[in-house]
Amino acid sequence: MHHLMRIIAPSILSADFGRLAEEIGAVEKAGADWIHIDVMDGHFVPNLTIGPLVVNSLRPVTKLPFDCHLMVEAPERFVEAFASAGADIITVHAEATIHLHRLISQIKGLGKKAGVSLNPATPLVAVETILPEIDLLLIMAVNPGFGGQTFIPLMAEKIAAARRLIDSRAPHVLLEVDGGITVENINAIAASGAQVFVAGATVFKSLNYLKTIQALKATR
Ligand code: DX5
Ligand code: ZN
Repeated sequence: MHHLMRIIAPSILSADFGRLAEEIGAVEKAGADWIHIDVMDGHFVPNLTIGPLVVNSLRPVTKLPFDCHLMVEAPERFVEAFASAGADIITVHAEATIHLHRLISQIKGLGKKAGVSLNPATPLVAVETILPEIDLLLIMAVNPGFGGQTFIPLMAEKIAAARRLIDSRAPHVLLEVDGGITVENINAIAASGAQVFVAGATVFKSLNYLKTIQALKATR
């Protein structure tokens, strides 16, 4: 059992895109810890979302860390643009690049935190070797591309295994989970060892962001 301080990262994918600045201000006021920004290229995932221009425009809106989740093919083409735009954490998919170690070095060389994400079907062993080099491991609990999907139950054991791997090999690595997190299932996911929780629909489709974020942080 882990008793870590939960970091809640609302995903603006489910926010009102016509009022992004206000939406970010509202979740900051409601106790969000990070802002999760889902970047999709229509190739790695079947959807298009946010580019560096938007990240740059949102940067003055908040002091909260921007947790940029790049669901794009060959992310090495874009990390510099996101770094300049104001990303604090740049997370890339292990499936999206051939030279993952080089890419992690590139992100750290830009002075940013480097995260690596795994799709549900990608085994943990894909990150085992490079784990000591990264700052964050992001386990996808849904197939990326859309908000509001259901947590895949098989991912609970993967999260627990990721926690064991981190504890034994690289305890500084933050363990983040993304997809299908609700007020009802967050405690079980936390018990599996996750520390950072992305929540899109759960936060932005709720009527009261403050109550929802408080409920996500409450240990029951
Ligand atoms: C999925 C994105 C997620 C998504 C989470 O492709 O990476 O960050 O926005 O949304 P919910 O919490 O609604 O599953
Ligand atoms: Zn995401």
